[in-house]
Amino acid sequence: MADTGRYTQQQKKTYEPEPSLLTTSSGVPIGDKKNSLTVGIRGPLLIQDSVFTEEIAHFNRERIPERVVHARGAGAFGYFEVTNDITQYCKAKVFSHVGKRTPIAVRFSTTTGELGSNDTVREPRGFAIKFYTEEGNWDLVGNHTPVFFIRDPILFPSLSHAQKKNPQTHLKDPNMFWDFVSLCPQSLHKITHLFTDRGIPDGYRHMHGFGNHVFKMVNAQAKPLYCKFHYKTDQGIKNLTREEAKVVAGKDPDYSLRDLFEAIKKGDYPSWTLSIQVMTFEQAEKMSFNPFDITKVWYQSEFPLIPVGKLVLNKNPTNYFAQVEQIAFEPKNLVPGIEPSPDKILHGRIFAYSDALRYRLGVNYAQIPVNRPQGVKVANYQRDGAMAIDNQGNAPSYYPNSFGGPKDKAEYKELVYHVSGDVDKFDDKEADDTFQVREFYQKTLNDKERQDLCENIASSLIGAQQFIQDRSVKNFAAIDPDYGARVQKELDKLRAASLKKEEPKKTEPKPLFYQQKNY
Ligand code: HEM
Repeated sequence: MADTGRYTQQQKKTYEPEPSLLTTSSGVPIGDKKNSLTVGIRGPLLIQDSVFTEEIAHFNRERIPERVVHARGAGAFGYFEVTNDITQYCKAKVFSHVGKRTPIAVRFSTTTGELGSNDTVREPRGFAIKFYTEEGNWDLVGNHTPVFFIRDPILFPSLSHAQKKNPQTHLKDPNMFWDFVSLCPQSLHKITHLFTDRGIPDGYRHMHGFGNHVFKMVNAQAKPLYCKFHYKTDQGIKNLTREEAKVVAGKDPDYSLRDLFEAIKKGDYPSWTLSIQVMTFEQAEKMSFNPFDITKVWYQSEFPLIPVGKLVLNKNPTNYFAQVEQIAFEPKNLVPGIEPSPDKILHGRIFAYSDALRYRLGVNYAQIPVNRPQGVKVANYQRDGAMAIDNQGNAPSYYPNSFGGPKDKAEYKELVYHVSGDVDKFDDKEADDTFQVREFYQKTLNDKERQDLCENIASSLIGAQQFIQDRSVKNFAAIDPDYGARVQKELDKLRAASLKKEEPKKTEPKPLFYQQKNY
């Protein structure tokens, strides 16, 4: 078992030198915390013992809904420092001058596992950053791979269900996952990234991050362009193989969380270099594919990375639940100078997260300390609701008003843009789901990486039914016949190996513990 005792030692050392007086939640001193109030030494208990009832009632309510996806995670705090001037592209004050520092919070996560699942799974890692800027919070909620599975948000619940547990067995089911993705070839690019060795990063410090979406950047002269964000690890990429991941999962399911916490604790602060790619509106018009499609990358040969700054994590949370479980990331949190692009997934997310947070944390989730902007006064006309901690005093509660309530300012309006077109539910049949995957398979990966990719895929796909395997192999072959053939060969090997396995020897069933003689 992993040694967790060190943290307890750490707490002992750093917690208050003299214990403070124990109180109830209302601050009333407690005389005895070890014994309930009873009639005589053998009881019964008295209901008037509110120290007992308060303790139990609070305990009974400790759990809140976990995130529907990305439930399991680790968080830390630090800063973003501008190293290169990009004010010609963006007026956001977070980029206003070289050397400028903005506090940040980061939460890393796995995707489909529950809060108590393990860290070393083959899944996209979440890499969410909250910049506490002087113009309010900017949330960049990304992944550790540059592309996503789907391009229309209506498919998201199905994508998620297919990766979660079987509704009957409550077991992970390769049939569900491979059935869904093989019926959605738009996922091939993401699948191909995910099944390389980068699909299981060696902890959160050794992976890149990507904002994934295209955003619009607007400069001080109101000139817009499109951009993508990349955050590259300064620790270097390190991954775990399938076999290593299994061993680590058995030894320490909290591997990535522990690695991050311990590195920061000993002053080995992880950092990432933030860069952007930019594309003008004219270039976007001329692209041979939809540049806003999140299943596609922008080639760095055409749109080179422009360095912007450093993200540094130098502070662990002091309380996991308050600062990591309750942190709320919202893709709608953009600041002046950064706006949405015509990316449908981004639009879906702009609704989804805030809605999830109202359910998970309550309507006043933005008032939880870790979610509050820093150095900015929140001033609006939202009032009341559960846990209205900062209810804005006696400020006017309606708008417009004649009593000096907060006012909007036209300079903060989003850029005007023109759209026209037929209203319909569009299936983008023109989209080519293969060319970038082909490029990645043939040119980015070397032969060993291609082989590892195919072995990783086969080791998962073998768990699905034959017709799903066949359909998947057909999809890989459409990328490159070699891709299909290698996956097929690995599947055949695994099948042959499992046929060779001896029938397990029959042994006497062990008696259940209550049937054992000595019980
Ligand atoms: C978390 C929905 C696509 C990255 C979540 C949560 C929801 C959600 C409901 C839980 C929020 C919470 O309770 O705090 C969706 C929908 C998507 C989508 C509907 C598409 C239509 C994406 C994409 C990425 C992504 C494209 C990254 C590229 C994340 C991350 C988290 C998350 C990192 C965890 C945030 C945290 O640490 O609190 N998503 N998601 N999601 N999602 Fe998505």
